[in-house]
Amino acid sequence: MIDDFEDGLGVACSFCHAEQKGSHKLDYASDAKPEKSIARNMMRMTLKLNARYFQVHRPGLGDPGLVITCATCHQGKPRPDLSAEGQ
Ligand code: HEC
Ligand code: HEC
Repeated sequence: MIDDFEDGLGVACSFCHAEQKGSHKLDYASDAKPEKSIARNMMRMTLKLNARYFQVHRPGLGDPGLVITCATCHQGKPRPDLSAEGQ
């Protein structure tokens, strides 16, 4: 599931996870970085989209049956390209 984040957004663990004080180790339980809570909301949204609009029952991140994933919108970027023209 965490791997989907990296692929979908093209970011490393440290994009969402803060470093422990006084070291460069990541503290995975810490909620210090806002990106982590945004990601949590995005996870909820992504699961709801699958359940509500695509009839995926009991969706879970990483399920192969998901219609919508992080990558659907993010396309390998931390912020989706919101320009109307697209590519
Ligand atoms: C896009 C943001 C994002 C990225 C990138 C990301 N994570 Fe996470 N990670 C989260 C969120 C959000 C949670 C909390 C999930 C929850 O609350 O259910 C989490 C939880 C975790 C946890 C459990 C922490 C705990 O509370 O015990 C571990 C371990 C973890 N991530 C490891 C990683 C590793 C290793 C990487 C890189 C390979 C990574 N994460 C990349 C967002 C991210
Ligand atoms: C339906 C489209 C959509 C899906 C699906 C989606 N996102 Fe997003 N996400 C967005 C948009 C749009 C933004 C930019 C919002 C803004 O600029 O205010 C964004 C922003 C973010 C950001 C903030 C980036 C920054 O630089 O501040 C994170 C982190 C993020 N998404 C994580 C995720 C993760 C993790 C998933 C999958 C669990 C996911 N998103 C699924 C549309 C989506």
